[in-house]
Amino acid sequence: TILVLDFGSQYSHLITRRLREFNIYAEMLPCTQKISELGWTPKGVILSGGPYSVYAEDAPHVDHAIFDLNVPILGICYGMQELAWINGKQVGRGDKREYGPSTLNVLDDANPLFKGMNNSTVWMSHGDKLHGLPTGYKTIATSDNSPFCGVVHETKPIYGIQFHPEVTHSTQGKTLLKNFAVDLCHAKQNWTMENFIDTEINRIRKLVGPTAEVIGAVSGGVDSTVASKLMTEAIGERFHAILVDNGVLRLNEAANVKKTLVEGLGINLNVVDASEEFLTKLKGVTDPEKKRKIIGNTFIHVFEREAEKIKPKDGKDIEFLLQGTLYPDVIESISFKGPSQTIKTHHNVGGLLENMKLKLIEPLRELFKDEVRHLGELLGIPHDLVWRHPFPGPGIAIRVLGEVTKEQVEIARKADNIYIEEIKQAGLYNQISQAFACLLPVKSVGVMGDQRTYDQVIALRAIETTDFMTADWFPFEHSFLKKVAARIVNEVDGVARVTYDITSKPPATVEWE
Ligand code: XMP
Repeated sequence: TILVLDFGSQYSHLITRRLREFNIYAEMLPCTQKISELGWTPKGVILSGGPYSVYAEDAPHVDHAIFDLNVPILGICYGMQELAWINGKQVGRGDKREYGPSTLNVLDDANPLFKGMNNSTVWMSHGDKLHGLPTGYKTIATSDNSPFCGVVHETKPIYGIQFHPEVTHSTQGKTLLKNFAVDLCHAKQNWTMENFIDTEINRIRKLVGPTAEVIGAVSGGVDSTVASKLMTEAIGERFHAILVDNGVLRLNEAANVKKTLVEGLGINLNVVDASEEFLTKLKGVTDPEKKRKIIGNTFIHVFEREAEKIKPKDGKDIEFLLQGTLYPDVIESISFKGPSQTIKTHHNVGGLLENMKLKLIEPLRELFKDEVRHLGELLGIPHDLVWRHPFPGPGIAIRVLGEVTKEQVEIARKADNIYIEEIKQAGLYNQISQAFACLLPVKSVGVMGDQRTYDQVIALRAIETTDFMTADWFPFEHSFLKKVAARIVNEVDGVARVTYDITSKPPATVEWE
């Protein structure tokens, strides 16, 4: 395992990601990690980039015990400046911020770190730079703007590079990370999803023990389904999944999830119909944040009540809560922010853990979304579920603008179902990151047959995005939109008009509320 210490760069998580692409396992921890508390010995250490200046008073610094491990060390950007700061303090502001591509000039061709790197494009993003060589180091690469673009210790395998090999704009960046991990650290390239399944099942069995029981919520989405299937493989009926039908799920969702998870995947699932309870609490509420809060709190309440009813065979209380946390959530929670490290509890389980005194199990916490999908396929989860668009926790409540009633939810649901059906039919589902219908609280005049109608408006949304932080609207063919609009107005009572949302994010958000 390679240890990646995170100094807070927006690219840090890509380092572990790139190594994983070579089947090398890497673990990222906050830069403040004490080596004595690690519990394992890394084969190499990578210090990431970061937004700070090493010479600033509140700058984060690495535990000097990394040098006693006697394993190769690679400092990237801030990580390199940190090495220089420790060895002679030759760091200061550059004349200007350097951001963008540069060409790497490798001086010492024989250096294994830069094998295959000469003349390649490397990506720069830094304000500070080295003003001189750290004590005991020599230069092994330069770039147009950085005379110390790559440095190495005279006698030890300690390297510093100014550019970011982890971003794809560094054309040979992956090669450098592989050179470091494989050739210099001798890390094993044996990380595969198949052995991840075996290792994880064994880990769960050991953690839970022979009699304890586990509870978890499923949503019908890919993460909770994959986590539940893995748990079922590990401990069978001792895992209890609960689907809370909050009355604002998609059309026929509860029944469909039950069919897939129970009949198809053998998961011990209990569907709780709490729709009346949720809709009663939502009565008269129009503010989106209030809707979110009500749904979140009611969910915790219902889940706890259902959990009480489960009586484990060993006579004790349920001990563990399964959570489908993914790696990006973990990174967000552990990342170094300011002089002290902040741990953010996951907002959707925080309350459950406190009240129920449960221990958390997170089998997906090392994986990225596409890896979870790959795992899902290997575990035999149906393709359609594995590739499903994300769906927000507050569900259709934030897609019915204004007050949420059973009737309004039904209209939004039916329109959404037609829209998604047509998208799938047209073979566009996998090109779109997320698509849904919103019901607007305005009425509009129409004519059907010889009758004047006065009904509501549906807005369709479809976006393309990689991270959901920014998004663009999907350019459907006009004939497609025409067909969907006709079907919705004809088949859904209460809708007189259909519009298509052509706003990107920013300035709009993905959801309308
Ligand atoms: P926005 O609307 O913030 O959406 O641009 C970005 C992504 O987040 C989802 N989303 C939510 N998911 N609870 C969730 O679990 C929420 O309250 C929530 N609000 C938005 C949204 O569907 C999109 O994928």
